[in-house]
Amino acid sequence: MKKIIIAIDGYSACGKSTTAKLVANKLGYIYIDTGAMYRAVTLYFLENYVSLTDPHAVVQALANIHITFIHNPHLQKNETYLNGLNVEEEIRKMYISDKVSEVSTISEVRKCMVEQQQKMGKKRGLVMDGRDIGTCVFPDAELKIFMTADMMIRAKRRQEELLEKDDMVPLDDIIKNLQMRDHIDTTRAQSPLRMADDAYLLDNTHITIDEQIDFVINLASSRM
Ligand code: C5P
Repeated sequence: MKKIIIAIDGYSACGKSTTAKLVANKLGYIYIDTGAMYRAVTLYFLENYVSLTDPHAVVQALANIHITFIHNPHLQKNETYLNGLNVEEEIRKMYISDKVSEVSTISEVRKCMVEQQQKMGKKRGLVMDGRDIGTCVFPDAELKIFMTADMMIRAKRRQEELLEKDDMVPLDDIIKNLQMRDHIDTTRAQSPLRMADDAYLLDNTHITIDEQIDFVINLASSRM
């Protein structure tokens, strides 16, 4: 059977990661959460006071950043490591969510991340989620999905995820954060979030996780 690349793009907190992870598990594919990479870069920049407006400082900092994903068998999921340290919990916090889209507009950051992501896909057999996977990272992906959902549903899902980590964030703050990120992501100069011409739209406002997985797996099967 042919190994393919499945690119899943879409708005923040639409359930891209959940869908991508489960599809990858079903197919025995590698799953890469590119949002986690931009979040890890943001954490490094904040911790090291890197000036976002100084391209030289940004390039220097990027040279010191090493991001890896290591499978945690107890939690049955990949966790993000920044220079050898597990930062999975830290990068999901609101102070990172508040800054990550600004960091993601920096062209040096995008170039560095996209290069690493393309290397990960060399052997195909990969599900990758993000904002520019079908349009920029893998324009030749065999299957492209663009996910969206109603804003209130997205915000409530994100609030529940944060609550599971004992982080109680008011719904209004989450909505403001999602709207701000959607705006920056769709209007930035370099590889803005948009649906690729050959992508399939998946609006999961009213469908279950199982239905989403079936939708993607059916499309994937016909391309293998
Ligand atoms: O997917 P997640 O919500 O964790 O992504 C965090 C942020 O990283 C997004 O809001 C976006 O600004 C940025 N991002 C991006 N390109 C990607 C993945 C994420 O610009 N491929």
